[in-house]
Amino acid sequence: MSGTGKGSVPEIRKGIDLTPWNTMSVKAVAERFTSVQNSEQLLALHRKGELRIGDLFVLGGGSNVLFAGRVDPLVLKVEIGGLEQIELENGAVHLRAGAGVNWHSLVTHAVRRGLGGIENLALIPGTAGAAPIQNIGAYGVELDDRFVSLEALDLESGSMCRFERSDCRFGYRDSLFKRSGRGRYVVTSITLRLDREPHIIRRGYRALDDWLQEQKLENPGIEDIYDAVVAIRSSKLPDPKELGNAGSFFKNPILSEADWSELKAHYEDVPGWPAGEGQIKVPAGWLIEKAGWKGRREGSVGTYNKQALVVVNHGGATGEEVLQFASRIQNHVREKFAIDLVPEVNIIGSMAGQSELKTS
Ligand code: EPU
Repeated sequence: MSGTGKGSVPEIRKGIDLTPWNTMSVKAVAERFTSVQNSEQLLALHRKGELRIGDLFVLGGGSNVLFAGRVDPLVLKVEIGGLEQIELENGAVHLRAGAGVNWHSLVTHAVRRGLGGIENLALIPGTAGAAPIQNIGAYGVELDDRFVSLEALDLESGSMCRFERSDCRFGYRDSLFKRSGRGRYVVTSITLRLDREPHIIRRGYRALDDWLQEQKLENPGIEDIYDAVVAIRSSKLPDPKELGNAGSFFKNPILSEADWSELKAHYEDVPGWPAGEGQIKVPAGWLIEKAGWKGRREGSVGTYNKQALVVVNHGGATGEEVLQFASRIQNHVREKFAIDLVPEVNIIGSMAGQSELKTS
């Protein structure tokens, strides 16, 4: 059986242009491409033997991926929708979202209903299902803080399974799904815990607090935080519809206290934040700017002039060109600071392993 019915097997299309499916807007072609609207279709594809570990790339919003070279694995676009609200005692609410729900519309939905907890994560591109893979975070909040559980198809057993928060091994832009569970699960839904009033307001992040003070908002509500984050992100990060990008290209490196002291001895003004015992997180954007790469452009690739951590496609860049540019940044930062920058974006395609870019 094939077609678009609930449990029907979705069609596998050949030679699909992925340019509209990646916010970096690089040209790439999927040898095989399919999409699912519900878990029944996902299970049907698995029963037919189409979903194989190592031969599958799950596409959410395409906002954290760089396609480089031939894309051989089956590209699976998860378009599972649905939002469900479950009332708990003492004002807490569980919000369950289908993996294909747009993340920002989920945040907007919550804020409009007076549900607090994820307002600091407004305007992050991508889907709900992609959010736990890299444990999205911004302005002092990470998904981990509000995460309850997720449901996924286990490609090994062919059955649906459930992960509680502690099973996911969340870390900074990290989870089990990027490590031992890599490529094995397809997320179909996530559940978050949100609160009604009184809300816990997180305004500790410097840029956020500055914005609120400028607006003279002494006791901001979740809508104010939401507005602030939308305003800050819009002013600092390029809109992918206008300028191709995948947000932060690299992770912020985490240094030992000894390495941090040495860096500080050379560069007194280097910013840094505690990141667990004996560890300091340093902004990669600062390192890249100090190395002279802010706003720099080489051919069609560059860094954004307001945020050096964002690599942008000025138009027509290939994934390979982006990789070469990123590896020059990486080399320069290593020469200057003896620090390795690790990509935050997922590099997919035949060039992924062959490029000069150091990926771990
Ligand atoms: N900075 C510079 N020059 C730059 C950029 C940054 O000096 O060109 C320094 C400044 O000191 C600034 C500090 O870096 O105060 C931090 O910059 P920013 O607030 O823009 O945050 P970030 O550390 O560069 C991280 C996340 C972003 C997230 C913001 C806000 C990572 C890899 N990136 O960026 O996430 O939106 O914090 O919380 O952790 C993403 O993951 O794609 C992303 C955009």
